Amino acid sequence: MVAYKSKVVERIHLPSRERRERALEEAGYNVFELAAEEVFVDLLTDSGTGAMSDEQWAALLRGDESYAGSRSFDELESAVQDVMGFSRVVPTHQGRGAENVLYGALLSEGDVALNNTHFDTTRAHVANQGADPVDCPVDRAHDLTVDGSFKGNFSLDRAWSIVDEVGAERVPVVISTITNNSAAGQPVSVENTRRVREFADEIGATFVIDACRFAENAAFVRDREAEFSDSTAAEIAREQLGYADALVMSGKKDGLVNAGGFVATDNETLFERCKQRAILYEGFPTYGGMSGRDVAAMAVGLREAVEEAYVTDRLEQVRTFAELLEDAGVPIYTPPGGHAVYLDAASALPHVPPAEFPGQALVCALYREGGVRGVELGSFAFPDTDRPELVRLAIPRRTYHREHLEHVVETATTVLENQEAVSGLEVISEPENRELRHFTASLEPISH
Ligand code: F0G
Repeated sequence: MVAYKSKVVERIHLPSRERRERALEEAGYNVFELAAEEVFVDLLTDSGTGAMSDEQWAALLRGDESYAGSRSFDELESAVQDVMGFSRVVPTHQGRGAENVLYGALLSEGDVALNNTHFDTTRAHVANQGADPVDCPVDRAHDLTVDGSFKGNFSLDRAWSIVDEVGAERVPVVISTITNNSAAGQPVSVENTRRVREFADEIGATFVIDACRFAENAAFVRDREAEFSDSTAAEIAREQLGYADALVMSGKKDGLVNAGGFVATDNETLFERCKQRAILYEGFPTYGGMSGRDVAAMAVGLREAVEEAYVTDRLEQVRTFAELLEDAGVPIYTPPGGHAVYLDAASALPHVPPAEFPGQALVCALYREGGVRGVELGSFAFPDTDRPELVRLAIPRRTYHREHLEHVVETATTVLENQEAVSGLEVISEPENRELRHFTASLEPISH
């Protein structure tokens, strides 16, 4: 049941088919290069693209822009204490700012960081410290169709085998990303979180939770982990996050704001180290690269994210979207994650070989057919890895209605009905750093 109504709206329109064809060509068949105005339903990301509540807009007006000692920071600190259970907060401009602050304080050259799956920016920040980011997903994480309640879990078996190989002293940091964005937004159980805590204790490592989507994860736990069936998402969030030594947070997800992030911890030594790095890279530690008003809005957003009505509706919307796609015969990763539905492009376009980027071909076809923007997360975004050919359709929070999602389903159905018309792509130009090529590379359709 939707627990909000619209008070402010933004006009969107579907450009003509000719215009879409031209826009795609001008963008080099890379949807990151499209002007947002040319997009009808924008499912590129759930990050910073959601709608704020009237309470958040009100907080925005009350934001305190003082350089030091801002009242808005006190509000954030209380929200983090109440919702997440941590006493010390270092605000940052967004999640990757928090990663730079925290991982710079925890990692050195030659270290290894273990994570259920590193998100791209996490991987880059770990590597930027000269450390080696190693993923420890469970086997079923990359199985697109196997059923499972917690396919996002951290594999202790994998983690132990790495520790046996490199030695515990080289692994100072263990991270659990909840939900696991790079594993199709799958949740992590509290039981798994406890076991990661024990593992971190055994090897003497700091346990970090990447809490970007902590509220969605808590709602999954309520629905799927028997021990918590009578608990609220708010209670579960505090329990689960409480196992960590520190959190990295992007407020652009479950902070329900358009900008912002933070590090949170109870460890005074770590707090001091993070504070010093924050002054260098982010700003004075009572604003951290955000304006006071953004800090104030994030303080309200964190509390709203764990409200039962909000977070239940959030998961329900994603699940309904997935069901509509499945009913229409569109192949997807199952079960759906908390913030997105991932299409299985290899099954959707079996005539496009991996070398011709079926995921990117599908992304382009969705835009051409219905002005829908998704993002490829397969062999185009991750060259030289054997990831499944997925296309992520991320749902911004409190933004689109069922009708928008029905339009996406119709669009995908039409694309699949005419799949032979979708050709593969080749890369025409790409930046020096191949790992970031999907943001700026240009492509062209291949005519056979
Ligand atoms: N960690 C996770 C798990 C994320 O999903 C993201 C961002 C970050 C860290 C970095 O946060 O963007 O505020 O700097 N994910 C976005 C996405 C970009 O589209 O999935 P940020």
